[in-house]
Amino acid sequence: MISPTPKRSLWPAKDPRAVVVLDQTRLPHRVQTVTLRSLDDVARAISDMTVRGAPLIGVTAAYGMAFAMAMDPSNASLARAYDVLFATRPTAVNLRWALDVMRDLLAPLPPALRHEAALRKAHEVAEDDVSSNLALGLHGIQLLQQVAARRNGQPVRIMTHCNAGRLAAVAWGTATAPIYLAHDNGIPVHVWVSETRPRNQGASLTAWELADHGVPHTVFADNAAGHLLQRGLVDLVIVGADRVTRRGDVANKIGTYLKALAAKAHRVPFHVAFPCSTLDWTLDDGVASIPIEERSAREVTHVSGTDPRGRVVTVRVAPMESPARNDAFDVTPAKLVTGFITERGLCAANARGLRSFRRP
Ligand code: MRU
Repeated sequence: MISPTPKRSLWPAKDPRAVVVLDQTRLPHRVQTVTLRSLDDVARAISDMTVRGAPLIGVTAAYGMAFAMAMDPSNASLARAYDVLFATRPTAVNLRWALDVMRDLLAPLPPALRHEAALRKAHEVAEDDVSSNLALGLHGIQLLQQVAARRNGQPVRIMTHCNAGRLAAVAWGTATAPIYLAHDNGIPVHVWVSETRPRNQGASLTAWELADHGVPHTVFADNAAGHLLQRGLVDLVIVGADRVTRRGDVANKIGTYLKALAAKAHRVPFHVAFPCSTLDWTLDDGVASIPIEERSAREVTHVSGTDPRGRVVTVRVAPMESPARNDAFDVTPAKLVTGFITERGLCAANARGLRSFRRP
């Protein structure tokens, strides 16, 4: 069974010149939507993480280009929109991919035709994300079926990190696509959800969407990952990616690398799920070359949550005088990755495995 209407994180507004997104800065405490109508709306939503997750950043940016063309379809406006959106977040390469797709389409067109064409393309990029993630899930479910076959009806135990779920994409998610499909088709699963400090995308977003879908899961403190793997409580790890180099190095949310090291030490398969828009064919050595976003130290020194009256409050956990550092992503070398799950199939995490996915 495959849901024909998977839950979405972004959808067209009634006004054809706008798009609606879930406000991810409010989850899990409030489920609120935001309507984006302009280049500035989109740039702000990506920068402040109203929308986040590599594929969703790319799709939302495509709409940003379309909204810019509605205001002013000139060459100068096209170049400016590209630059403004490109500057929003540095690590997820899906952003550059989507901006390139839009610019390559729009630049040769007469300005009068650009807005309509851009809006059509943005919708297409969004729908392609949905179908890619479904295809990726249908490939990835094979891995879960293999584990299920030896679990005698016991749940397949999957560890994940950050949010590579439907909230990070338009629908299905990447790491979660095989999990949702397995769950919907009677394969019992249990997901270990890493809290993912400092912004807690695991505890606040992945846990929320798994609960919303009825998928059994447990949130754990990031520091417990090695312990859970060592105790034999995890059958496989599946994470998403923000950028994968041509030799298979993976940039993903900070903490992914430590999980990969621990999984390797305990011979637990470690898979990375991503659509091919996450591949950066221009880079080889990911540790040396992938730009890593550094975010505000406040995300480390403070935590947010609800108080007993349901109000969202932010409190400081570090001493006033202590500085903090906040690298938002790390790079997992290909040699620590068991395999890749993409919409074009499963492959080894190396240059040869990826080569067949390269489009001319
Ligand atoms: O900083 P974020 O929340 O945008 O980071 C998201 C992640 O690192 C995800 O794991 C990654 O984008 C994969 S999303 C399918």
